[in-house]
Amino acid sequence: MSGPTPLIIAIDGPAASGKSTVAKRVAAELGCVFVNSGGMYRAFTWWVLQKGIVAEDTPSVLDLLAATDFACGEENGVGTITIGETRMTSSEMASTEVNANVSVIASIPEVRERLVAEQRRYAERNGVVMEGRDIGSVVFPGTPFKFYIDASPEVREQRRRSEGITDSIAKRDRIDSSRKASPLVIPKDALVVDSSDLSADEVVETVMASIRSRLV
Ligand code: CDP
Repeated sequence: MSGPTPLIIAIDGPAASGKSTVAKRVAAELGCVFVNSGGMYRAFTWWVLQKGIVAEDTPSVLDLLAATDFACGEENGVGTITIGETRMTSSEMASTEVNANVSVIASIPEVRERLVAEQRRYAERNGVVMEGRDIGSVVFPGTPFKFYIDASPEVREQRRRSEGITDSIAKRDRIDSSRKASPLVIPKDALVVDSSDLSADEVVETVMASIRSRLV
């Protein structure tokens, strides 16, 4: 069986499950663009906070959304996002303030609509490995290459702590899984990989073996 053209690999999972590491490496092996869709929600959250808007003030967030231009592109095989004149960098996007507010912003349907449209555009141009919460369920439901990377809550908390990042993982998981708009779910045809007791190499190998077995 031959894969779809272009190749679309959807990798979902809860916070700190290790999906970024795996998605980056799978993208490099396949020569696809790596896109962290969470980075797009983080970028807009940073912009909201930068403007002095409280994340829960939905009307003001929507006004800002309407006035905001997103430019999504690619550099060295990695998706980039520019808002207005600002090319977002990981230090802005991974701040404690962004961690604390991103799930509230990401639960707003209009925000998701705008960013999902940008996410789909990536696959018009290139093969893509995209990671997030709703990539297999909503953004690219038609791709046969769906993965759900999980790990126990203890392992995930420990991973974030060891990165020295303050992050309310349990709270984000709760909001992400219970929101009305595109909640975090396991797509029904996804391969679930529990990474709690696996090395990154082992997870990458499991995902790659599943992809290779379906590509001639
Ligand atoms: O840092 P971590 O991998 O846990 O999360 P992330 O992928 O950077 O995503 C940050 C937040 O963005 C998540 O907690 C979700 O609230 C939101 N998100 C989403 O709603 N949908 C996506 N496809 C990706 C992220």
